[in-house]
Amino acid sequence: MTELHIVGGNPLSGEIEVGGRKNSAVAAIPAAILAEGASVLENLPAIGDVATYSNILSSIGAKVQRPTWSQMKIDATNIQPDVTPLEEVKKIRASYYLLGALLGRFQYARVGLPGGCDIGQRPIDQHLKGFRALGADTRIAHGEVIAQADKLRGAHIYLDVASVGATINIMYAAVLAEGTTVLENCAKEPHIVDVANFLNAMGARVVGAGTDTIKIRGVESLAPAEHAIIPDEIEAATYAVAAAATGGDVILRGVVPKHLDSVSAKLREAGVIIEENGDWIRVIGNDRPNAINVKTLPYPGFPTDAMPQMLVLLCRGRGTSVISESIYETRFNHVSELQRMGTRIHVEGRTAVVEGVETLHGAPVKASNLRAGASLVIAGLVAEGTTRVSGIEHVDRGYEFLEEKLRGVNARLCRHSDGVSEQGEADCQTTAANIGDG
Ligand code: EPU
Repeated sequence: MTELHIVGGNPLSGEIEVGGRKNSAVAAIPAAILAEGASVLENLPAIGDVATYSNILSSIGAKVQRPTWSQMKIDATNIQPDVTPLEEVKKIRASYYLLGALLGRFQYARVGLPGGCDIGQRPIDQHLKGFRALGADTRIAHGEVIAQADKLRGAHIYLDVASVGATINIMYAAVLAEGTTVLENCAKEPHIVDVANFLNAMGARVVGAGTDTIKIRGVESLAPAEHAIIPDEIEAATYAVAAAATGGDVILRGVVPKHLDSVSAKLREAGVIIEENGDWIRVIGNDRPNAINVKTLPYPGFPTDAMPQMLVLLCRGRGTSVISESIYETRFNHVSELQRMGTRIHVEGRTAVVEGVETLHGAPVKASNLRAGASLVIAGLVAEGTTRVSGIEHVDRGYEFLEEKLRGVNARLCRHSDGVSEQGEADCQTTAANIGDG
């Protein structure tokens, strides 16, 4: 079992370099298989989901090389469209992008149903609706999705929900279809623009990404290209909240401040000082934040992926905050873990009422998914005493160099696998010397 042992109470201070965006990376990697030849992706985050995707692509015949941890060269010349390593496919949500990409290239795809964080039902009906509109037959059998078409033809498609996954997946199937596809009620997240830019660099003709209508003119074939992934605004939001919640002062470098507008606005409402310029933001926390209300919404609204972290900040708010989750059914699952640490949170359906308390206390807690794990790490940084966070493999799926980045801003934490420190006993003793009973 792997755990993070965190000794809380230190205000974070210093600088953090933000990595490439997880949800852009795991969309761009499968896009590379739309073309024969070798594409190169840069600024990939060093996270578990990227490693899993690399394994999946290798298993279908792609030649994948990682010249450095932030680069991936993908030669998809000899791939085949039956994706059979079900265990790998089930580890991540983004494996669904193989359906659109393989269908686009081969007019056939067989891929296991995706996995990922357990935060609600997460159907893929809109993806399949789009493939069918383009002329494919789709069916689900034995835990796999099979999509097949004689020929894909452009169509007018209206999404019932503005789904990030469906928007991107349908683009992948449509770029090589005959004629023009018009996709309406699209999601507008910045990584949709990012992957559209990659597709266009490969020779696709996609316009309107980032708005709610995307037009895709099908082309005969795509060519390999090079592309750098945009910064991860959720990683940045996580460290911004951690800085604020510990009363710290942290500069986050390598970000697009505009992508963080909704998070910055809510932090400011909570009394946190945010300065921004060019490609950095500075976050200066206070003793206790103001209580505020937060509602998650599709971009440019407040991101659901930053909500569990924000909830931790408000656990020490001066008064009562209300958080409404509008994207997923069960994103408050980890609240019982936060309650072990002395927080006062009442959940009713998709709403959490958070009564601020003066102090959080360290406790053993378990991460059940990626962002829940991130929120427990922040709670550990805030709490008095020691917090032991298990289930840390969920966090590793989406955060690169977590301990190194946090230690670089004065956090005291240390990773243990089966009771043994991975940081080196001597370093961990230093951390452990400060560890109370929690
Ligand atoms: N939905 C449907 N039908 C569909 C697709 C989605 O009803 O066919 C619903 C979902 O159930 C959900 C809403 O639409 O209620 C939005 O889902 P969306 O498809 O936008 O999400 P996703 O593609 O499954 C991606 C990210 C998530 C992030 C959401 C929203 C990836 C791999 N995952 O998921 O990231 O929360 O968009 O921004 O890109 C995370 O990083 O922690 C994470 C969960």
